[in-house]
Amino acid sequence: MSEAGARERAVERLVVELGVALQSRGVYPSGHPSLGRSVERAIAAHRAVLALADAPAATTLLAIEGQLLVDRVPVPEDAAWSRGLLLGFERHGLSGLTLLAGLDGAELAAFLDACHGASGPQPSSHVQIGAVGFAELGPGAERGLPGAGRLPPLTRAEELAEGRESFAAVAGRSAREVDRLRSLVAALARAAGGAQLASPRLATVNPGDREFLHGLATALGTLRLARALGVEGDRLQELGLAALLHDIGRLEAGPLGGDAAHRAHPVVGAARLAATPGVPPVAVVAAFEHHLRFDGAPNYPVLDEARGPSAAAQIVAVADTWDTLRVRGGLAAADAVPVLRRRAGTYLNPALVEIFVALIEGGGGRRSCS
Ligand SMILES: [Fe+2]
Ligand SMILES: [Fe+2]
Repeated sequence: MSEAGARERAVERLVVELGVALQSRGVYPSGHPSLGRSVERAIAAHRAVLALADAPAATTLLAIEGQLLVDRVPVPEDAAWSRGLLLGFERHGLSGLTLLAGLDGAELAAFLDACHGASGPQPSSHVQIGAVGFAELGPGAERGLPGAGRLPPLTRAEELAEGRESFAAVAGRSAREVDRLRSLVAALARAAGGAQLASPRLATVNPGDREFLHGLATALGTLRLARALGVEGDRLQELGLAALLHDIGRLEAGPLGGDAAHRAHPVVGAARLAATPGVPPVAVVAAFEHHLRFDGAPNYPVLDEARGPSAAAQIVAVADTWDTLRVRGGLAAADAVPVLRRRAGTYLNPALVEIFVALIEGGGGRRSCS
């Protein structure tokens, strides 16, 4: 068997065994021999994956909108063997799990106990919730934005630092901060219209402030996509602001990286924005709808009547998914494009995905002279 084939088999085994172990704990009480055997199989599978890895320190499993990534490699979407783990992640509010070398059966069993207990999933010395290193992504980290893949030298570093403060203040219902964010979006819109985007200048932004960076990246992608669709003027600015604030509910609903509160963030965010004077209605709608599926199949928030998202939320969702795959998933642009395309028609509007990919690859999009 080739090296790649051996790794694929090992990953498949880990995904299956971990999915079974998560579900077994729902069936068997703590310490039951059947559960113990399942845990040991999962540990053996984890060790086998590490033994085949380039850097055998940890294995990261991430679920991004129903797509499982193992060590940044997307698992084929039609892989039935990944369903059990995805279901387990969903049930326990997990969006990512990193298993470090040294993990043993007792620690994994304790993790499973916590998943099924009142506390929910808890990290431990060899189990991290989310992706290792994500919080440490520096301000200059490659964001993979359409055009040149970087944030533009849009403005002074101080303006970005102020924007970051305002971003947090909006979550605290401070209406006067919305205007400051509007001027930041206007600067982004100008930069997004240029033919060239140069290096980021985010030196004074706290590297840990990932929600703000994710908001900026999503806003820039949204502005470029909306421009390519011919959206200009006030509508463009409001859409950019909506993209910047789309995940504001996360500031209250829990940190990115696996939390039962994750599914609440669209509702929490929309409610927060609706209560903040000066926030345009489209921002409330985009916050509420950006995780609704384009095909109307159930996702979250759970709706009484199934429907797809509005056009504005569809645009934001494409830019949002792109930044999530690039930064949280750690995918290179060339690897993220096929995953984005696999979301087309189900989670995302296929026409928007194709225009966005054309922008990323530098082959499309209307230019603005502003
Ligand atoms: Fe979100
Ligand atoms: Fe997001």
